[in-house]
Amino acid sequence: MSRAIVFTSGKGGVGKSTLTLGVGRALADIGCRVAIIDTDIGLNNLDVLMGVENKVIYDITDVIENRCRLSQALIADGDGNGLFLLPSSHGYEQCRGDGQSFREVVMRLKASFEFVLIDCPAGIEFGFHRAVAAADEAIVVTSAHLSALKDAAKVAALIGSYRLPCKLVINRVRGDLILSGETLTVEEIKNSMNVDVLGVVPEDDRINSISCGSSSIGRGDGKNAVKLLASNIYGTSDDIFDATKKYRGFFGGLKRKLRGKV
Ligand SMILES: Nc1ncnc2c1ncn2[C@@H]1O[C@H](COP(=O)(O)OP(=O)(O)O)[C@@H](O)[C@H]1O
Ligand SMILES: [Mg+2]
Repeated sequence: MSRAIVFTSGKGGVGKSTLTLGVGRALADIGCRVAIIDTDIGLNNLDVLMGVENKVIYDITDVIENRCRLSQALIADGDGNGLFLLPSSHGYEQCRGDGQSFREVVMRLKASFEFVLIDCPAGIEFGFHRAVAAADEAIVVTSAHLSALKDAAKVAALIGSYRLPCKLVINRVRGDLILSGETLTVEEIKNSMNVDVLGVVPEDDRINSISCGSSSIGRGDGKNAVKLLASNIYGTSDDIFDATKKYRGFFGGLKRKLRGKV
């Protein structure tokens, strides 16, 4: 059965777009057909992140207002890896779709894709409600910062009012700071949020590395954690990436010291 999952957060800049794309590519890598929708109307991100902004002719507003067919607006990622993007419109004034029309677009995508991943705009305004109302499940993305956690808790409560299953992903986790007691541990976040943790993604500068090709999302720990998150979503694993592992032991201690000096 096809699943529509919204990636949301409340706070901007915590990694929703990065993880929507990363999970989409990881699911496509294991053979799933995946559509991702950029619902950040007017502030298009995903086409830029995917490196396909020059290919955008039609967008979600054109689909909703019947100026094109859905298939004409979809842009393929990489070399036919099974991932497609429905881009957001570039002009704020063009945004006329309501919750019902978004839901219809998602329903039509679900007829041909196993996963429809919805990248939600920041905030809890109309754009948030429109994106959440179109989904079957929600992933709340947060960093370990208190302000992001506060917003994530608020968003999780709002999602509860939609009766959607909701899980938490903690992004940009600094294993070195967890070990030195300077930031909350995954366990502490889990207990304070009262939402199940579906994944942890470490801080990793290579996460958006475009030098690795358009169908890749960087390499290293960030990529491995995103792959693990995707298989947790798919249901073939139930593991949480350990961001502290590489900072433990003798060499790990050296890495922590070095990182502290940067
Ligand atoms: N795990 C990570 N490690 C390092 N940088 C990250 C990570 N996740 C996201 N980023 C960076 O954070 C910034 C904001 O990410 P983005 O996905 O645009 O956030 P949002 O969609 O929530 O506004 C981007 O520059 C992105 O490269
Ligand atoms: Mg974004």
